Amino acid sequence: MEISVTLTKNPKPLPEDENKLGFGEKFSDHMFLMNYTAGKGWHDARIVPYGPLSLDPAAMCLHYGQEVFEGMKAYRADDGRILLFRPDENFKRLNNSNDRLEIPPIDVDFCIEAVKKLVSVDKKWVPHIDGASLYIRPYIIATEPKLGVHASHEYLFVILASPSGPYYKSGLKPVKIYVETKYVRAVRGGTGFAKTAGNYACGLKAQEVANREGYSQVLWLDGVEQKYIEEVGAMNVFFVIGDEIVTPGLYGSILPGITRKSSLELLRSWGLNATERRLSIDELIEAYKAGRVSEVFGTGTAAVISPVGELKVGDLIMTFNNGEIGKISQRLYDAMTGIQRGRLKDEFGWTVEVK
Ligand code: PLP
Ligand code: COI
Repeated sequence: MEISVTLTKNPKPLPEDENKLGFGEKFSDHMFLMNYTAGKGWHDARIVPYGPLSLDPAAMCLHYGQEVFEGMKAYRADDGRILLFRPDENFKRLNNSNDRLEIPPIDVDFCIEAVKKLVSVDKKWVPHIDGASLYIRPYIIATEPKLGVHASHEYLFVILASPSGPYYKSGLKPVKIYVETKYVRAVRGGTGFAKTAGNYACGLKAQEVANREGYSQVLWLDGVEQKYIEEVGAMNVFFVIGDEIVTPGLYGSILPGITRKSSLELLRSWGLNATERRLSIDELIEAYKAGRVSEVFGTGTAAVISPVGELKVGDLIMTFNNGEIGKISQRLYDAMTGIQRGRLKDEFGWTVEVK
């Protein structure tokens, strides 16, 4: 399928100070759109000036939440190249989310081409400074105007690009996380592994309560017994316990993070003992009390590698590594951002250049 391009006649001014970008607050000059109609498939792929969507007020996404999304980044390398990080993984995951939400699949290679073309058209919007990048948000919404509860017969695929700085205002300074013991995010057989709006909507209440208490995000426990550690609001989580680096396994209720997968691959390539398994909050507390938890960190596209300095569980406050970034978190951060910014050799073949 050809992708048509209509350039804006009113380019917006570029951000004046890349140190003050924030996360997901500004958008580039263009966006990618593509429609789906049952019986016809995906059609009318186009890059157009960024602007409001026209949507029937009965569009099904507005009523029953049939939506999926992705999050990826384009980085400006030190040598001027523009690099994407494992975009195939994002679109494979989008198809897994599509399948769960009963949305028709997309063609992975075509979507990578669409991202490359959008980033190429909006190249000047890729930030220059370290720590900032062009955050890319592909999403699909159900657009058929119907109130009956069934899968839509029409969809809109959108890709937005947002020059962004760090997700957490604290940057690489360790974040404080609140272990949620009242609400749950996902249950076995539900949508936890999919990147879909409802997973985030149901987490907002807990996040607001945590924010009011001075915590950045919540750490979710499993939805059945609230015993096993799952993930944080916008990142997967790792614990260094003795010589084991453990992250919760993928049993269907957490997002299979691409940064998580890449971190496991890097840690294992360094000969470290990185494991995926069930980890109960009680096991963590016990290890903490025995002085065996040396580092905690989160991984995510937006969050990169975020050290966790404090975890609050009920009345217990656990602090890690004196609120400083730990050795393993720092090594992982340097390796990950080094590959993403073309500073280190990409031995795994993870980066894709945008020409
Ligand atoms: N978990 C959740 C709930 C997320 O929203 C994200 C962000 O995408 C992640 C984990 C990390 O996934 P990734 O590393 O693919 O960005
Ligand atoms: C990401 O890391 O891409 C995310 O989607 C996290 C959050 C902004 C939802």
